[in-house]
Amino acid sequence: MRDDQFREILRFFGLSWEGYRRVRRGVKKRLQVHMLGLGARSVKEYLTRLEADAAEREEAEGLVTVSISRFFRDIGLWHSLGSEVLPERIRTEEKRIRVWSAGCGCGEEVYSFRILWQALDGRIGDLPELDLWATDANPAYLEKADKGVYGASSLKELPDEWRTACFERKPRGNRFALHGDLKAGIRWRVHDLVREAPPAGGFHLVFLRNNLLTYYDKKLRDPAFRRIVSALGPEGILVIGKKERLPNEGGVFVPLTNCPFTYKKVG
Ligand SMILES: C[S@@+](CC[C@H](N)C(=O)[O-])C[C@H]1O[C@@H](n2cnc3c(N)ncnc32)[C@H](O)[C@@H]1O
Repeated sequence: MRDDQFREILRFFGLSWEGYRRVRRGVKKRLQVHMLGLGARSVKEYLTRLEADAAEREEAEGLVTVSISRFFRDIGLWHSLGSEVLPERIRTEEKRIRVWSAGCGCGEEVYSFRILWQALDGRIGDLPELDLWATDANPAYLEKADKGVYGASSLKELPDEWRTACFERKPRGNRFALHGDLKAGIRWRVHDLVREAPPAGGFHLVFLRNNLLTYYDKKLRDPAFRRIVSALGPEGILVIGKKERLPNEGGVFVPLTNCPFTYKKVG
């Protein structure tokens, strides 16, 4: 598939050409197979078909979704969250900490948070109640998250002692199953960041990493970002991806100097 054809498909879905730079080849291949399967001889024909057929459109949307993730992705972030940001928040927040992993993929991000929280429980003790939300537009990813079984490459940033403490190695296939107690108490929801209001409000911490801010065009991204910001409580903390930037939309943030890719809402 040529670049201009791929651009046309991205435009159709309101997605960003720049955001797809690093994953272009794989996504193009998937779309090409789908196009051929539908017997579409040109991108124009393909898009006309998608417009007329909701199920095929949904299928194509799934094909342009990127689910790459891993536990403790950008490990420096998690070190700072665990050593500074969360202990400070826990000191000032007595009752309940509300956290949302928005566009959570197959669960690696929210389970990383759960593991970190368990470690804090051992270190600080007497933690507030944790209200932990994990949402994604793709129900298949949430099903995978629910199983909680991952390949070794998903665990490559996980400190060794946590790998041993939190996972059971499966007898075959170099795969690891997360312990059941770490899966409990997470509110999983199918939720579309672009088309739906946030699932709740008053969050102390929102992870919005490697999805909306990377893959969507301004037109879809900015209103969705405003809604997500409004779901953060006063002084709420927003974590974005390593290669992402905050749009100039929806509230005032200051970067946290002690934690990378992390911002505090101040307006
Ligand atoms: C690359 S993964 C990122 C997972 C995790 N946040 C991380 O950084 O490791 C992108 C995820 O965003 C989800 N996503 C993309 N568009 C979305 C939307 N409009 N609403 C909800 N989730 C979306 C995808 O389904 C995918 O699971």
